[in-house]
Amino acid sequence: MVMGIFTVAIVLLNIIELSNGAITSGYQRKSEPSMDLPLESFPPPPGHSAPEQVHITQGDHEGRGVIISWVTPKKHPGVVTYWEAGHEQKKHKTSSKTTHYKFYNYTSGYIHHTLIKGLKHDTKYYYEVGQHEVARRFHFTTPPPVGPDVPYTFGVIGDLGQTADSNQTLEHYVSNPQGQAMLFIGDLSYADDHPFHDNRRWDTWGRFVEKSAAYQAWIWTPGNHELDFAPELGESVPWKPFLHRYSVPYKESKSTSPLWYSIKRASAYIIVLNSYSAYGKYTPQYSWLEQELPKINRKQTPWVIVLLHSPWYNSNNYHYMEGESMRVMFEPWFVEHKVDIVFAGHVHSYERSERVSNIKYNITDGLSAPIRDSSAPVYITIGDGGNVEGIANNFIDPQPHYSAFREASFGHAILEIKNRTHAFYTWHRNHDNEPVAADSMWFYNRFWHPEEEPSTIR
Ligand SMILES: [Fe+2]
Repeated sequence: MVMGIFTVAIVLLNIIELSNGAITSGYQRKSEPSMDLPLESFPPPPGHSAPEQVHITQGDHEGRGVIISWVTPKKHPGVVTYWEAGHEQKKHKTSSKTTHYKFYNYTSGYIHHTLIKGLKHDTKYYYEVGQHEVARRFHFTTPPPVGPDVPYTFGVIGDLGQTADSNQTLEHYVSNPQGQAMLFIGDLSYADDHPFHDNRRWDTWGRFVEKSAAYQAWIWTPGNHELDFAPELGESVPWKPFLHRYSVPYKESKSTSPLWYSIKRASAYIIVLNSYSAYGKYTPQYSWLEQELPKINRKQTPWVIVLLHSPWYNSNNYHYMEGESMRVMFEPWFVEHKVDIVFAGHVHSYERSERVSNIKYNITDGLSAPIRDSSAPVYITIGDGGNVEGIANNFIDPQPHYSAFREASFGHAILEIKNRTHAFYTWHRNHDNEPVAADSMWFYNRFWHPEEEPSTIR
């Protein structure tokens, strides 16, 4: 018995290495990257020029709108038929805007985007894209009306790609019925890792995520793999494939660019920023965020969640300090406005920070270390979707004080907002064929309940 306890203690000591109270999990899956699955693994749906790559996102600021997007290989009028569940006799029809693009030697299919507004809250709708024998049917449920105590559950995935690991991450998310909408933290297809940015990989990725993205809103954040800036191929306009394929409701939040915007959903106010557009003083993104943060009414949307691709607090050698210049510009505002959580991706592992800030520095005082700050967000790096580039398993040693938990493996997260004060967060590691909750935390809202949270490591 005593021997057994001793053995368990030795095993536990091997699993976690403690430094300064912070935890570096010793759990590691494998260090070699997975290849992208073959193109044939993502066949188009049957039927001549059938609608494919169907995905939806929020279409307005409050959650009564949806944007439905899809691709057809041939030119068709883009038509969506939709109806409230149980009211099949009362069908609505609406048409889409259609676009297409060329990228080097690739020509896209016809990309359709349909905006539907004025839907009922908290209501299931069916919709069909395409017509006649190739019509395909899906459904979604609109979020409840915006309000301070509205429970809502988000999934969180970043840097997904299209490998066997990506597939495991997405399967784990889909097999968990909790997630009602997806916060996607950038780096979608990794098409640009292929010769000539093989844009067929944008198509296969669209087919890959359809099993979730056609049924619930995916909130899109731009990442560096969406830039597709390739002047050597004659492609010198950044973001071309991404912006043609993924439509977002940026004008609803008075943004002038689809690369940064905000939405309200249930009790959350979600701000999407772009790490790869200018954010210095007087730039459009800076000016927008400066006006945006004071608009948030915590009595209506208590939870302020920011999505951006390049992390500000990252203790991995991969992409170390790439987010630093944006942190310097915006962190004082995040503390002033008591942002609850910042999700980032980019680094292909998992990390959760303490509540820290580093905003005291000026050129003469030398104060440039992160300190505990109860008004600061928790920073979560979740670039661990499982893409072709493999795991980022090179953490800085010793673990810095700002880092609460970090682990080099793949997975996804679930954020369950319960009411205005509490949200339960779990990170699910891909563990063989099982999602295993490997990190969890009760978040206390920074406006309504700004107490220190106990963190739980499973
Ligand atoms: Fe990235």
